[in-house]
Amino acid sequence: MLSSITCTAPVNIATIKYWGKRDEKLILPLNSSLSGTLHQDDLKTTTTAVASENFTEDAIWLNGKKEDINTTRYQNVLRMIRSRATKLMDKKHFVHICSINNFPTAAGLASSASGYACLVYVLAQLYGVSGDISAIARIGSGSACRSVYGGFVKWEMGAESDGSDSIAVQVAPETHWPEMNIIVLVVNDKKKETSSTDGMQRSAATSPMMKERCATIVPQRMRDIEAAIQARDFQTFGDITMKDSDDFHEVCATTDPAIYYLNDTSRYIMNLVHKYNKMSGKIKCAYTFDAGPNACIYLPEENVVEALALFTKHFPGSDLSTYYRGSDKSNIEKIEHYQ
Ligand code: DP6
Repeated sequence: MLSSITCTAPVNIATIKYWGKRDEKLILPLNSSLSGTLHQDDLKTTTTAVASENFTEDAIWLNGKKEDINTTRYQNVLRMIRSRATKLMDKKHFVHICSINNFPTAAGLASSASGYACLVYVLAQLYGVSGDISAIARIGSGSACRSVYGGFVKWEMGAESDGSDSIAVQVAPETHWPEMNIIVLVVNDKKKETSSTDGMQRSAATSPMMKERCATIVPQRMRDIEAAIQARDFQTFGDITMKDSDDFHEVCATTDPAIYYLNDTSRYIMNLVHKYNKMSGKIKCAYTFDAGPNACIYLPEENVVEALALFTKHFPGSDLSTYYRGSDKSNIEKIEHYQ
């Protein structure tokens, strides 16, 4: 018997950054975080998983290249899925997985988020796992737990040592703020030098900013941004988003040895956004940068044309600006099932 499922999962863009773990094995964070999940038609991972009695081992291909499936993360995910399986419980069923991103992998565009969210979702479908799967996605890659849901999603850091309450929760569905858009400015699509996993471990151990960030700054920002999302208050949302991005990169800069993810083009974009907002007398768009130089710009629909014109003018002739519509239809999706 052969059973196959294909699913897609979108990328999420954090407005309050996850940076630092209190448990490396279970991937439990030092702070809660919050993100917006992109539209399914934009940045996404498509994954097919096939189970068969004829396979002699588990195997995974990422963007056409065979990867080692015996990593701790893949094995933890497979073990957790199989322990909750209601289908294919016969141990003879091995699984073959093919995963494709429609965007640069590991260039600070949250590929691990959509990748592990999709992997866990597809395996959960295949093995008949029900209930919350965000905690399984989390043990693949922390930020992946937020891609399990659409709209605005928070990852509650939780307090339990077994990670049972460190899960993703939808703050508002994709229909709540449909005017919200995201423009992704691809500054560099090369693989980053310092992975998020290594970078956050070093920051947690050495940056003097981490303690206050986790104890007071992030908890307050989480409360404020959640309220701003509920009220569709873009001024507060944009202000907090840019401040948290700035602080995150300051944490990286104060890590020993320092980590720099931004480059001159990133900083040019930051200045441009600040000037544009100042000139307009209000926040028209808000930048945020993950562990890479690429900019993600949150903005309401009414400002998209003007902002795109601005970015195109400053970066003429390049394909720097790519436009991704935000909110609706951003849930993870099952697109094919063959049994
Ligand atoms: C800067 O989720 O990739 O994008 O849990 O070690 O796999 P691991 O890290 P990862 O880190 C993402 C960090 C970030 C911020 C965020 O998405 O919240």
